[in-house]
Amino acid sequence: MEYIIFGVIAYLLGSIPSGLIVGKIGYGKDIREHGSGNLGGTNTFRVLGIKAGMLVTSADILKGTLATLLPLLFGADVIILIIGLFAVVGHMYPVFARFKGGKAVATSGGVVLAVNPILFIIAIGTFFLMLYLSKYVSLASMITGIVTVIVTLLQQEYGLTIVVSVMTLFVIYRHSTNIKRIINKTEPKITWM
Ligand code: G3P
Repeated sequence: MEYIIFGVIAYLLGSIPSGLIVGKIGYGKDIREHGSGNLGGTNTFRVLGIKAGMLVTSADILKGTLATLLPLLFGADVIILIIGLFAVVGHMYPVFARFKGGKAVATSGGVVLAVNPILFIIAIGTFFLMLYLSKYVSLASMITGIVTVIVTLLQQEYGLTIVVSVMTLFVIYRHSTNIKRIINKTEPKITWM
């Protein structure tokens, strides 16, 4: 029963479409109609600029962290990592935005932050290093996911390995169009780094 309650709460939290809210309320724009059309932090940066991008990325991270930690606050007897996964699913397929959400990156990061802040810092470092080297946010996101899997194996945190592997598979699956664009050399590169 606790899995159902906290799983549903996590899914609903993950479903909060921060990109849509910030875009529509703050800028009168639906970011799904601009840029890559993705309802995520990267596209918010692209379409609405740094302030909105930071806000949406932070909110998307926070959703994952909050959903994962909430069962602990109530002393629930659940594996919080599994609850965190529901937030990631909500972020990708939000009930409040016709099930068209983001690509699992920031909210997965939020789940990782909740359970292993060191891994989160490693992930942030990896992401920016890969972004600097490749200039592709999408590629940096996918490689970061793979690196987190390897780090959890080295840390012998095998439960976390399973969950970050699932999240990394979500991230790669949700980036299938980006992968095609990278291969076709049509994926946009960042220009500010
Ligand atoms: O976090 C999503 C990012 O990796 C790619 O987003 O908008 O370039 O498809 P986008």
